[in-house]
Amino acid sequence: MNIEDKDIASLLHWYMESGVDESIGDEALDWFAISQTATQKPTKQKPVASAQKTSPRVSTDQIAEEAEKLAASCNSLDALNDAINRFDSCRLKKTATHTVFSDGNSDSNIMLIGEAPGVDEDRQGKPFVGENGSLLDRMFKAIDLNRKKDFYLTNILPWRPPGNRKPTPEEIAICMPFIKRHMELFEPKLIILLGGISASNLLKSSLGITRLRGKWTEFDLNGNKIPVRPLFHPAYLLRQPKAKGDTWKDLLEIKVKIEELSL
Ligand code: URA
Repeated sequence: MNIEDKDIASLLHWYMESGVDESIGDEALDWFAISQTATQKPTKQKPVASAQKTSPRVSTDQIAEEAEKLAASCNSLDALNDAINRFDSCRLKKTATHTVFSDGNSDSNIMLIGEAPGVDEDRQGKPFVGENGSLLDRMFKAIDLNRKKDFYLTNILPWRPPGNRKPTPEEIAICMPFIKRHMELFEPKLIILLGGISASNLLKSSLGITRLRGKWTEFDLNGNKIPVRPLFHPAYLLRQPKAKGDTWKDLLEIKVKIEELSL
């Protein structure tokens, strides 16, 4: 069979429309052949001594410590961006197309922190540029805030979890030193946490977003108590439009706080 470029393009298009938007492995696997050998009688396997010798297991704590040292060595947002781009010890980076650092006005006082890049953010290398991002922009426009001028955006994870799965606690622990340093370097006067993963991990709370939103709390940034408002994630609002009423009340309170603090 002679496969032409247009056939390949149309096959890829079909995959993307069906939600298959990434290939995880570098090489294709014949799963039919694998399932056949799995049902055959097992033969005695030789131990793979060299692989065991050359790849000692590194614990999550050790990787998080490496991230912490690297983050602490950065004295500007640009340096932190470079450092995260150079950091290869988080497995999420292997399947991501881009490291997604931030967007918006880095001279503003308001920091929005989401969960992790989605497929559009991974392709474009910027946070909240897809469908979630356009809802987010509309939400903030309703209280006269514009991302280019009034706020700064990032995520607790700079890499997209494959297939948009939830990040694991280990992945979050490894990336936590980066977001903490990001907050120290940006020095927000007001923090808005988007969604449960961002809110519960940064506030170290076991409560879900439904219990965390709707009120003000604080983040201790090196002794400075910064007001924090958790909000429903835009992806949740797209799935549950009824929750937009509660979010509108949160946004109006954010507007009042901004006026009170003269931000
Ligand atoms: N969802 C997030 O939490 N962050 C993004 O950047 C995009 C989608």
